[in-house]
Amino acid sequence: MPPEKIEIFKSMKDWAEKNLLVHLKPVENCWQPQDFLPDAASDGFEEQVRELGVRAREIPDDYFISLVGSMITEEALPTYQTKLNPMDGLRDETASSLTPWAIWIKAWTAEENRHGDLLNKYLYLSGRVDMKQIEKMIQYLIGAGMDSQTENNAYLTFIYTSFQERVTSISHGSTGRLAKAHGDMKLAQICSTIASDEKRYEAAYTKIMDKLFVIDPDGAVLALADMMRKRITMPSHLMYDGCDDSIYSHLSAVVQRLGVYTAKDYADVLEFLVGRWKVKNLTGLSAEGRRAQDCVCCLVPKIRMLEEKASERAKEAPTIPFSWIYDRQVKL
Ligand SMILES: [Fe+2]
Repeated sequence: MPPEKIEIFKSMKDWAEKNLLVHLKPVENCWQPQDFLPDAASDGFEEQVRELGVRAREIPDDYFISLVGSMITEEALPTYQTKLNPMDGLRDETASSLTPWAIWIKAWTAEENRHGDLLNKYLYLSGRVDMKQIEKMIQYLIGAGMDSQTENNAYLTFIYTSFQERVTSISHGSTGRLAKAHGDMKLAQICSTIASDEKRYEAAYTKIMDKLFVIDPDGAVLALADMMRKRITMPSHLMYDGCDDSIYSHLSAVVQRLGVYTAKDYADVLEFLVGRWKVKNLTGLSAEGRRAQDCVCCLVPKIRMLEEKASERAKEAPTIPFSWIYDRQVKL
C-alpha cells in the first residue's frame, strides 16, 4: 500500500480505539460452545447425545453438506489471522501489540474461534458425517491458505471483510431457518447465535469503510470497484477433500440450491453496501474515481441477470457423491 494510505490507518488509531473496539464483547459476556452442547461431565450426557442424534436423523444429507461447508470455512481461521495480521497500516509487530488494529485482529479471531469449535463438535455428535474426511479437508484448507485478491492492501481487505461478514451472517441465518424447518430447534439456535456474531463483525468492518469513504472517497470507491471486478469469493474456495477437484463448486451449487447463500444474496449484499456507503452521492472524485463509481452503481442489475441464468442451469444439475457423508449422493 502506498505510504500515504498507510498513514491514513495510522491516523485512524484513536478513531479505531473508540469506534471499532466497542464491537468486541468481553470474554465473560461471550457464549461458549459448551453452552449449546451436551455436557460430558453430567449424568444426562449419553441421553442428550442420543437426543441430538435423533434430531439430526430428521435432517437431509444436502443440509449437512451445507453445514459442513460453513464449519470448514470457520475452521480455516488461522488463515484469516495470517491474512490480516501483517497488513500494512494494521500490522501487529509482536503478536501482543496494543494498537487498536492489533487488539481487534486478535480478539476478533478469538471470538470467531468459537464458531468452528461449536459446529465441529455438533457435527461430530450428530453421527451424520464422516469426521475423518472432514478433518482431512480442514488440514488441506489451512495448508492451502486463501486467495482473496486483496493483496497487502487494507482498503481491499476491509471491502472484502465487510462483504464477507454480511455473507456469513446471511448463510448462518439461512442454515438456522432450515434447521428449524427440519424440526431441530437446538441446531437452529446454534446457527442463529453464530449469525448474530457475524452481524456484529459486519457492523465493525462496514464502519471502517464508512470512515474511509469520508476521509478518502477516491481510494475507497476504487477499492470497491477493484474488488467487484475481481468478484468476491468465499474464503474457503481452495478447499479439497483428497478426491474431488471441484469440491468447492459442488458445495457452492448445493448451498445455492438450498437457498443458504445464493447469487441473489451476492447482489443484495452489494446493493446494501453501495447504499450504506452512499456510493451514488460521492462527490469530489478524480476521473478514475468517477469511472469506478459508475461501474459499481451499474453492477447490481447485471449480477441479477446472471443470477436468473444460474438458477435456470441449476434445474438440470446432476447428482454426485460427497466424501463428507460417506459418498452418499446429493443433487447439485
Ligand atoms: Fe464466524
